[in-house]
Amino acid sequence: MAEVVIVENKSAAGALVADEIVRLIDTLAEPVLGLATGSTPLPVYEALRERLAGHDIAHLRGFALDEYVGIDPAHPESYRSVIMREVIEPLGLDPELIRVPNGAVETIEHAGADYEQAIAEAGGVDLQILGIGTDGHIGFNEPGSSFASSTRVKTLTEQTRKDNARFFDSIDDVPRHCITQGLGTIQRARHLVLLAFGEGKARAVAAALEGPVSALVPASSIQLHPHVTVVLDEAAASEL
Ligand code: GLP
Repeated sequence: MAEVVIVENKSAAGALVADEIVRLIDTLAEPVLGLATGSTPLPVYEALRERLAGHDIAHLRGFALDEYVGIDPAHPESYRSVIMREVIEPLGLDPELIRVPNGAVETIEHAGADYEQAIAEAGGVDLQILGIGTDGHIGFNEPGSSFASSTRVKTLTEQTRKDNARFFDSIDDVPRHCITQGLGTIQRARHLVLLAFGEGKARAVAAALEGPVSALVPASSIQLHPHVTVVLDEAAASEL
């Protein structure tokens, strides 16, 4: 059973998760953090900013969940740029130690296997931050994704492209493919922390936590994980 924590607001959620991450940084010699993009994890990164002074982050490794395929890494909405802007720079992390899947078309054939190998060589992810899509996706594992899947290329659904169109000039500019950690990859992280805020996420949260474990709701795979914390505001918890 996942531990579900309902908090008053986003900043309380950010503080809660950031405290846990600081605890890992203080206790592990080489902590490995699973990073997520999207608006949901931002309060965590903000809270971390206020907490990291005086803690040794020189060995902090990070692996992002996903990236668009074929996007210029320098594009402001590539997840490499987003992680750089929202995590690496404000927190003062070593960019060499923070990886994002490589979405370059030329090397895409082995990019998934390379990423899996890098995660394994780092000793696996200690704490994986997760958001959730309105259709129940985690990372970019859309409905129908195999629970055993590893990092691989996927096609984005129209719904996700619409949801993400706000970051681009128009929906036509939203890439059609992505490379994402698989549900199997996510399952191998030692602690999963899923956050969700707002009414728009309530149905997906209820389906993920209380619905049947089904590939139709990729986030329901977290029900199979032994150590899950779900941090919600009242609105996101409203259908539980
Ligand atoms: C994207 C990301 C997911 C994220 C989801 C929700 O699809 N690939 O990792 O969970 O968006 O985004 P938001 O947190 O902005 O609602």
